[in-house]
Amino acid sequence: EDFSLSGYEHYMRKEYLEQPASAEAVLRGRLDDRFGTPRLNGLNLDPRAKREIRRVKVIGCGSAFYVGQMGAQMIEELARIPADAEPASEFRYRNAVIEPTTLYVAVSQSGETADTAIAVDEIKRKGGRVVGVVNVVGSSIARACDGGIYLHAGPEVSVASTKALTNMALAFAMLAIDLGRVRDLSVSNGRRLIAGLQRIPGQIAQVLENEDQIADVAKRLSGAPSIFFIGRVRGFPVAREGAQKFKEISYRHAEAYQSSELKHGPLALISPELPTVAVVPHDELTGRNLGALQEIGARGGPLVAVTHGDVDFGELIVERIDVPRNEPELDPILLTVPMQLLAYHAALHLGHDIDKPRNLAKSVTVE
Ligand code: G6P
Repeated sequence: EDFSLSGYEHYMRKEYLEQPASAEAVLRGRLDDRFGTPRLNGLNLDPRAKREIRRVKVIGCGSAFYVGQMGAQMIEELARIPADAEPASEFRYRNAVIEPTTLYVAVSQSGETADTAIAVDEIKRKGGRVVGVVNVVGSSIARACDGGIYLHAGPEVSVASTKALTNMALAFAMLAIDLGRVRDLSVSNGRRLIAGLQRIPGQIAQVLENEDQIADVAKRLSGAPSIFFIGRVRGFPVAREGAQKFKEISYRHAEAYQSSELKHGPLALISPELPTVAVVPHDELTGRNLGALQEIGARGGPLVAVTHGDVDFGELIVERIDVPRNEPELDPILLTVPMQLLAYHAALHLGHDIDKPRNLAKSVTVE
């Protein structure tokens, strides 16, 4: 395994550029085109056990929590099982009700985050079933879980996670399709989504080819004292992760908000000094997203849209970052990639220590 910088200036850039290959690695050998379903043998769940799941609860910290929220949405949408995500750091302290028919999913790159590990022990102590979505093989969390999906992202050194997060999102997509296919997700929908997953590594490479343009946008954003990141439903976890990454390494204040909630408060802050990065997928909510952007534009708020080439913004003045389209249920995975580049290039422009941001550790293993 390669821990060297191999000529790159920062691990973060090396790692986000590795994503087409690391995404291939998490999918390799796990996709069955014929039945339109993933093969996730490591879960240690037979079809009957999968069908008995009545609820899914995802726990993780930091970026792993935001990807967990993306994953919970995929599970609810594709498998029609009620699902949500919660920071493990909260879950462990609130004496949560543990149900035998709930599947608990612990998400962690390192597999050593104390809050997540202790939450897993608490679930197990109360008889709950936990599976891990973990990168580091043989780590504490991986060993404590009843089964799981290894990410195969390779070693990640940069504090700001990139390739491990993308692989977490891919692992959740596979879990959602798998749980869906033992229920009511049809074989044709399963095949459509499996084909979508197979296209993702190549499409990530296309996003990365756009690095110069994204760097330009990032430089301009780095001058703002504060930035909104907005999205709704599938786009909201993308916005949350975008804001998280931006503040972690650029040290600029960034706040994620649901586009749908703007009118209930934050619109009061919109001005020419406060840029907004909006996640605008091409789906059944595009029209509503454009409505929210109109509201911002009308108040002079500068707009950056992370979107797809065929979304038409009409008269609105928008700096667009286009990402290839996949299947709408999987698009959040690709829409997250430009967020990494925005944060990286803003921090680079500001001259920060990108791989080791102040006050943060790659994994928080102590209480
Ligand atoms: C730390 C890092 C975050 C990371 C979180 C969870 O707080 O600074 O970037 O998302 O831990 O780490 P894990 O290894 O559990 O995914």
